Amino acid sequence: MRKQIFAAAVLLLSASFLQAQIKAPATIPTYKNAKASITERINDLLKRMTVEEKAGQLNQVNGGVFTGPAANDPGQKAKMQMTREGKVGSFLNVIGVKETKNAQKVAVEESRLGIPLLFGFDVIHGYRTIFPIPLAEACSWDLVGIEKNASIHAKEAASAGVHWTFAPMCDISNDPRWGRVMEGAGEDPYLGGMISAARVKGLQGDLSDANHIMSTVKHYAVYGAVEAGREYNNVDVSRVALWNKYLPPYKAAVGAGAATVMNSFNVFDGVPASGNKYLVTDVLEKKWGFKGFVVSDWASFGEMVTHGYAADAKDAALKAFQAGSHMDMEANVTGKYLPELLKEGKITMKQLDEAVARVLYFKFKLGLFDDPYKFSNEARESATLFSEANRAVALEAAKRSIILLKNNHDVLPLNASSGRKIALIGHYANSKEDMFDFWIANGTANDAITVYDGMQKRFGAANVSFSKGYNDDATTNETLIKEAVAAADNADVVVVNIGLSGKMAGEDRALGNINISDGQVALLKALQKNGRPVIALVNSGRPMVLTQIQNYTTAILQTWILGTETGDAVAAVLAGDYNPSAKTVMSFPYALGQIPIYYNHFNTGRPIPDTGDQGWKSRYRDQPNDPLYPFGYGLSYTNFTYSGMLINKTAIQKTEPLQVSITVKNTGKFDGEEVVQLYIRDITASIVRPVKELKAFQKIFLKAGESKEVKFTLTAKDLSFYDAEGNSIIEAGAFKVMIGGNSKDVTEKDFEVRN
Ligand code: BGC
Repeated sequence: MRKQIFAAAVLLLSASFLQAQIKAPATIPTYKNAKASITERINDLLKRMTVEEKAGQLNQVNGGVFTGPAANDPGQKAKMQMTREGKVGSFLNVIGVKETKNAQKVAVEESRLGIPLLFGFDVIHGYRTIFPIPLAEACSWDLVGIEKNASIHAKEAASAGVHWTFAPMCDISNDPRWGRVMEGAGEDPYLGGMISAARVKGLQGDLSDANHIMSTVKHYAVYGAVEAGREYNNVDVSRVALWNKYLPPYKAAVGAGAATVMNSFNVFDGVPASGNKYLVTDVLEKKWGFKGFVVSDWASFGEMVTHGYAADAKDAALKAFQAGSHMDMEANVTGKYLPELLKEGKITMKQLDEAVARVLYFKFKLGLFDDPYKFSNEARESATLFSEANRAVALEAAKRSIILLKNNHDVLPLNASSGRKIALIGHYANSKEDMFDFWIANGTANDAITVYDGMQKRFGAANVSFSKGYNDDATTNETLIKEAVAAADNADVVVVNIGLSGKMAGEDRALGNINISDGQVALLKALQKNGRPVIALVNSGRPMVLTQIQNYTTAILQTWILGTETGDAVAAVLAGDYNPSAKTVMSFPYALGQIPIYYNHFNTGRPIPDTGDQGWKSRYRDQPNDPLYPFGYGLSYTNFTYSGMLINKTAIQKTEPLQVSITVKNTGKFDGEEVVQLYIRDITASIVRPVKELKAFQKIFLKAGESKEVKFTLTAKDLSFYDAEGNSIIEAGAFKVMIGGNSKDVTEKDFEVRN
């Protein structure tokens, strides 16, 4: 009996074994085996891929819409066919769960190897809940807040099927004529680095869940130095400037683990960035150890022909590839020519595999091979987008971005329960579109709370009147001015929204004139005559020249472009529910002719003295050298005084830290936050150093009457600089350390660094 049972069991087992042999594939390919390591999976997949499929992974195509009537569009059909053939590694501008899932299905279920797609999109300051523009957000100097904001951008985008954003922009710029300053963190390399790193961390997390997305360090490198602020223009900077001024934010973002880096449109040292081996291979790869992949900017591989650096499209593909760039956004030269270049022996299979492996790595890392639809949950998408929780974070960010530039007679804040009548004037204040800029991702203007909405809510609809004041394009309209003056006559206080249309901020928005328009100046002039306090709100994606409105305003708030929650944030600041704490991260020019203007300039051989004869010195005859508002400047409804600055030693060894402290007191009537800024100056060095360099800061909260000793530690790293080859050096000699509430008004101490 026992024997029989045993025999039956053997039979059964062998039958089921045979069945399994028939049903299951002999083995799961290693690249599909979730238990294998990413390296094993990549190696296995590379062995199975054709050269065309490999080139396809390095090809990024502008996608758009593939469902509904668009599915029959010949162009869209062709893109889907390319996907089936494994000739697309990534799409940009395919968004929303419905669209991304549909395209992913084609890649995964209809292509030979089923390699999932990466979906990239410009999520610059929010996906659906639109946050303040990055420049405004940077003015908060709030690294924790900035990281948190970025995590919400990522969460919303990820819920909508997006894997990858082309942010943060890490370009240092001194030129507010450039429309893209709105995307960055201003003019300072140190602060720019801290902010860029915070943005990368917030966006990416550790890329292991479905709430974070890949980030892109862009535009590598030195795009912020485009001559005369003109988009896509030439760049010509020295290697000393490259290393000390422009590279630090890119480096910090790469150090924070950014998955990708984007080439810039410009040349560096006469070589377009996309084909620039020095930038991409020598610095990024070798010096910084970057392990992610490099994506071109839109068609920038192909533009190397127009630059006059590549002979034709094939040569462009070769030059980009040889420089170390990997993925081709929209130029379609890589997908087309890499196989030919390989056949001709101009590139090797090893090089190609190495590039493709970098792209595949992130597809594995995001978990897309194991669950290609990990980012494709429609219920999650609708629960996440524009949620109350996300909007609350955006509102906080917006309040923290507003800078109080001027507040004569403490006219602000306005008492919201006094019943005082407010005349709100200015087209932008009632224009939802103008709460948004060019980079609005999937935001809709309809969601935006205008300044008018917000003020009616906060001050009572009956207390706030609205009139347009100027034409939609900011030009003069005498009838609108008359109406505005009549409204002001019936009010106790006048709030005027001026500046630029939101649509004038972003790519391809370079402006030769950033003065306040004649129409808006004429309006302010007319309003000022009735003697009521005039409070200006400046809507703009860049610092404008505000000199011409000084005589016609009692207070000025720089409100930038704040996104969906604009109106509530502005009303909260006007009413004093939030005490402004932002400080500008870009100098506000006194006059157009001063641009480029920045605080961390060199001394020159002939600096102008503060007093006395200024002849034959580096100066303008018709205007001051100083900006209207310097870097780091911003007021509060309270006052802060600085006293008792101390350093622990007057001489230190190169490796020794220096302790610096100062007492800050809130001497006003409101609780408030202050950004305490520490600058250094290296007086004499083998390469001249700026008159001031930010090296540390702390944002502190003080109750009215409270004081605090703020302590900093300066280390060798803070006191060093780069030579032209990118070596960090610290030199013995005289230094200054300065502390203050902005880059101009500082108290200082001298110290010496010894060998
Ligand atoms: C911009 C990039 C952007 C890309 C994709 C380019 O024109 O310069 O910043 O990420 O387009 O939209």
